[in-house]
Amino acid sequence: MTGRFAGQRAVVTGAASGIGAAIARRLADEGAGVLVADIDADGAATTAGQIGGSAVPLDVTDPAAVHEALGGEPFDVLVNNAGLDDFGWFTDIEPARWRRMLAVNVEGVLACTQAVLPGMQARRYGRIVTVTSEAGRIGAKANAVYATTKAALTGFTKSIARENARFTITANCVAPGPTETPMVQAIRDRGERGAATLAAMIAGTQLGRLGTPEEVAAAVAFLASPEASYITAETLGVSGGMGLGG
Ligand SMILES: NC(=O)c1ccc[n+]([C@@H]2O[C@H](COP(=O)([O-])OP(=O)(O)OC[C@H]3O[C@@H](n4cnc5c(N)ncnc54)[C@H](O)[C@@H]3O)[C@@H](O)[C@H]2O)c1
Repeated sequence: MTGRFAGQRAVVTGAASGIGAAIARRLADEGAGVLVADIDADGAATTAGQIGGSAVPLDVTDPAAVHEALGGEPFDVLVNNAGLDDFGWFTDIEPARWRRMLAVNVEGVLACTQAVLPGMQARRYGRIVTVTSEAGRIGAKANAVYATTKAALTGFTKSIARENARFTITANCVAPGPTETPMVQAIRDRGERGAATLAAMIAGTQLGRLGTPEEVAAAVAFLASPEASYITAETLGVSGGMGLGG
């Protein structure tokens, strides 16, 4: 297979489903050998089977398991995509729910990045792309903790970019807007209130529609590719203009 990722090894977390599956497919289509890492073992195996990659069942909130799964082989590309959303007014969110979101969305990214960095540093090459959200840039109603987790990843990514530029490793974020995945379907499934939430999210975009996982995957693939060699510490919105606000 020829392509931008020919001969490269990539790991995509949360690639059993939605955006992660589309990213894994895109990288594989362009020549990467892709490791699909997801807490959903069956889904990970299905995605891996579809793209000719390999799968590992992995809970990114377990640092020891992450180091065991990802620390043993060198990767050219890490896509931190696994994420969890849990809607609710902030006054209704108990600490157990916010801890879970912080664990998956923030600590999971820390663990995966720490596991792959030594191999990238040793080979003096790496592309780290972290999937954040426009919620982290402009805030979101009934989604304060989620927005907090995604905003945190921006500071982390900028710091990793600073620390690792000397190893020719870049670190960037892609911030999707509302994208047609099971995560959005879960909002739709919440009846009238869900439909209103989704309508408001779509109205917040300039293009007036949901994005597709493939549109997000195209942006991730660009930042993960060798040609994005002079781009680091950036966030690229893939949100139909949602980042403008209003
Ligand atoms: N869909 C959207 O509208 C949207 C918008 C902005 C950002 N995002 C972000 O995009 C990313 C992908 O979201 P999606 O919409 O495809 O959601 P999704 O629910 O379809 O996929 C998330 C994947 O992460 C996996 N996952 C969850 N917890 C995990 C854990 N502890 N360890 C390993 N894997 C775990 C799930 O099994 C699932 O396969 C997330 O980071 C999400 O926050 C999504």
